[in-house]
Amino acid sequence: MNILVTGGTGYIGSHTVVELIQAGHKVEILDNLCNSKVSVLDKIAEITGVKPIFHHVDLLNKEALLEVFENGNFAAVMHFAGLKAVAESIEEPLKYYENNVVGTLNLIDAMQKCNVRKLLFSSSATVYGDPGTSACTEDLPTGQKITNPYGKTKYMIEEILKDLSVAQPDFEIMLLRYFNPVGAHESGKLGEDPNGQPNNLMPIIMKVARGEYAELSVYGNDYPTADGTCIRDYIHVVDLAKGHLAALKKMRPGVQTFNLGTGRGTSVLEMIAAFEKASGKPLPYKIVGRRKGDLPELYAVAEKASKELGWKTELTIDDAMRDTIRFLNGN
Ligand code: NAD
Ligand code: UD1
Repeated sequence: MNILVTGGTGYIGSHTVVELIQAGHKVEILDNLCNSKVSVLDKIAEITGVKPIFHHVDLLNKEALLEVFENGNFAAVMHFAGLKAVAESIEEPLKYYENNVVGTLNLIDAMQKCNVRKLLFSSSATVYGDPGTSACTEDLPTGQKITNPYGKTKYMIEEILKDLSVAQPDFEIMLLRYFNPVGAHESGKLGEDPNGQPNNLMPIIMKVARGEYAELSVYGNDYPTADGTCIRDYIHVVDLAKGHLAALKKMRPGVQTFNLGTGRGTSVLEMIAAFEKASGKPLPYKIVGRRKGDLPELYAVAEKASKELGWKTELTIDDAMRDTIRFLNGN
């Protein structure tokens, strides 16, 4: 298939592009490089032997976006492009609504004009808000108690896509709710390398390992969990990328929703221990107060994806840490 990948030079997009190329698909990438580097294209070429066509285009530029669609002959769109920094979204909500929501509306408009009907959307476990349970199934209510504009954009886009599907039932839509992506490509050539200050655990651990930060602040050890720190479902980014290929094969008219997670929870202290084991060095950290909005425990119930997509995760936290360290050493 000829596939347009928005946000394809970003962290999850770039790993998915590698898997798509290796599975024989033809890929074009659209990205405005606001949170990624053009050199990622060379890394993709080193891994796969193919350098994808690249469009340096912003989703907010409707004319340029339409031109990409008019000149391409896309069978499907994988839509990763978006802003994702939770703290920044609280400070600059309108930037997030415009980039993520308006950007997606522009994308759908261009798809409609050029008769492209398959869309896979990067959603997030954040749409569950505070679900009142640790184990998230896809049928839980969404949209309640979402604590930040970033999360709300994901919820709003899901709702927009559901409405679109009612009006145009021939659209084939996948809402893929990612849990916590971690790790890097096993080659060490691709990984998470965000511009600016990260908020998420793994990029911060990487900064501590590189000596850019003196220590990791662990947000609270008084939660009702075994070691007192929060538990999340960390999924290796290559498993996550493969989940997109599995979803692509099962597209049909209408909206389908899947959690992409491992189904297992890991605490912050367990993540630190796994990193230390892989690196062979202690990771300096200190316990600080809780971060507002954090839930004690959240993980995916991953059965639906396993049954209906025939996909489940294969890589472990140890694999993710090993590959993260390879990426750190290579960069
Ligand atoms: P990323 O920032 O590495 O990649 C996103 C890419 O989109 C970047 O390359 C950026 O330059 C590009 N982009 C942003 N706005 C754009 C615009 N207006 N026009 C064109 N390009 C634009 O992020 P990621 O971690 O790879 O996340 C990919 C997607 O998955 C995002 O939509 C994110 O919200 C979602 N997601 C990520 C996580 C996570 O923890 N990483 C969890 C759940 C969902
Ligand atoms: C966060 C966002 C969520 C978003 C997701 C993926 C919040 C409240 N939630 O979720 O909306 O969808 O990222 O982008 O911001 N931690 C530390 N020290 C740190 C950083 C994190 O102890 O410096 C802990 C956190 O308390 C949490 C765990 O590590 O328990 C994972 O944090 P993070 O990577 O930010 O992911 P989420 O909290 O799941």
